Amino acid sequence: MFDALRPQVASIIQNSNRTADEKLQAVCELLKETIPYYDWVGFYFKNGNKEELKLGPYAGAPTDHTIIPFGKGICGQVAVSNENFVVPDVKAQDNYIACSITVKSEIVVPLFVNGENIGQIDIDSNTTDPFTEEDERFLEYVNEKVAEILS
Ligand code: SME
Repeated sequence: MFDALRPQVASIIQNSNRTADEKLQAVCELLKETIPYYDWVGFYFKNGNKEELKLGPYAGAPTDHTIIPFGKGICGQVAVSNENFVVPDVKAQDNYIACSITVKSEIVVPLFVNGENIGQIDIDSNTTDPFTEEDERFLEYVNEKVAEILS
């Protein structure tokens, strides 16, 4: 599945007829539609020079959490740790911001441009413990491709 998706992601990113936001939107939709346990897929980016994240393109249900302070929730923690955060069971997390009662697990992978953590891709799943290292490697690849158009 991921091997087939990589060239599709690359092709969306390289399509010169779309704006950066349109490309990110298309990537979110591709991942949500193709990977059965990806129920919400979105990008958050550092909001200017503020110590907070702002929601960017996403696919899935609208969320109230369009702004997330650094340190808060899984996303806010990744903004300061610079490391992938895999949450097999959100109920076991103290510092977690619930977006929907159907969500059981989450993965957040930071997005680096020129070595700087400028945002992240965030996946919510309605399945418990679905994520493996393959998801991490794949999402790192997605973020590397996205970084090419943001630098
Ligand atoms: N659950 C996230 C908040 C963002 S929503 O999943 C879209 C968190 O704890 O940071």
